Amino acid sequence: MDLISSISERHSVREYKSQDIVMDDLGKILEAGRLAPSSGNIQNWAFVIVTDEDKKKEIAVASMNQIWMIQAPVFIVVISDLEKAKRYFGERGDYYSTQNCAMACENIILAATSLGIGSCFVSAFVEERVKDIVGAPDSHRVEGIITLGYEAKNTTRTRKASLYSKVSFQTYGNKIEDMDKVLWDYNVLGKGIEKVKKTQKGISVKTKEFIEKIKGEISKKPKK
Ligand SMILES: Cc1cc2nc3c(=O)[nH]c(=O)nc-3n(C[C@H](O)[C@H](O)[C@H](O)COP(=O)(O)O)c2cc1C
Repeated sequence: MDLISSISERHSVREYKSQDIVMDDLGKILEAGRLAPSSGNIQNWAFVIVTDEDKKKEIAVASMNQIWMIQAPVFIVVISDLEKAKRYFGERGDYYSTQNCAMACENIILAATSLGIGSCFVSAFVEERVKDIVGAPDSHRVEGIITLGYEAKNTTRTRKASLYSKVSFQTYGNKIEDMDKVLWDYNVLGKGIEKVKKTQKGISVKTKEFIEKIKGEISKKPKK
């Protein structure tokens, strides 16, 4: 699955099949975490894989009794070396630790999606308890837990706010009324052309002319 499709396919999964994750896939998922960006490239993260049923149960209980978590065959507990981040960046290291791990987590989650594996990021937990369960050092912080597994049934997707409500130009709150036209219509048109190109090998001359005409229109559009 390509990246843009993985991003739109991704959703939090809280019901899992008992099917295990193939180790090769888990390797790819962790590799995606390893390659994430980090402040000054300090990579101050650690990924603890938890598959032990008793440990998973303890973690689910420590996560405000989110018992659904246990169904997931794998948990990745993401831990930051807070001391290292503070050594490099002082107090700012606190933010960077969370931000670094968030980058790694999203890479992990998207890699999982691309492999057809569902996930949920969990952050409601008693940190000291989870730290104890996985044996994390005092100088470290548990930044999140990612549950991984195959989705048991189609999850209803959450609603996302419109791009219009989230994007401004040059200064905060400065909106462009026809933003969809500027950012979106052309994108949709571009995708349409690609699709036609892929699906219709022997397209007619008329269709080819039509595509060229649209491409010409697009290139005339002033660049923002
Ligand atoms: C920082 C953070 C903490 C979260 N903690 C939990 C959690 O403890 N339990 C849970 O079920 N989902 C948790 N989620 C998942 C969100 O509930 C979910 O991403 C949100 O409802 C949007 O749904 P979607 O992921 O399907 O798009 C968390 C997500 C984030 C980013």
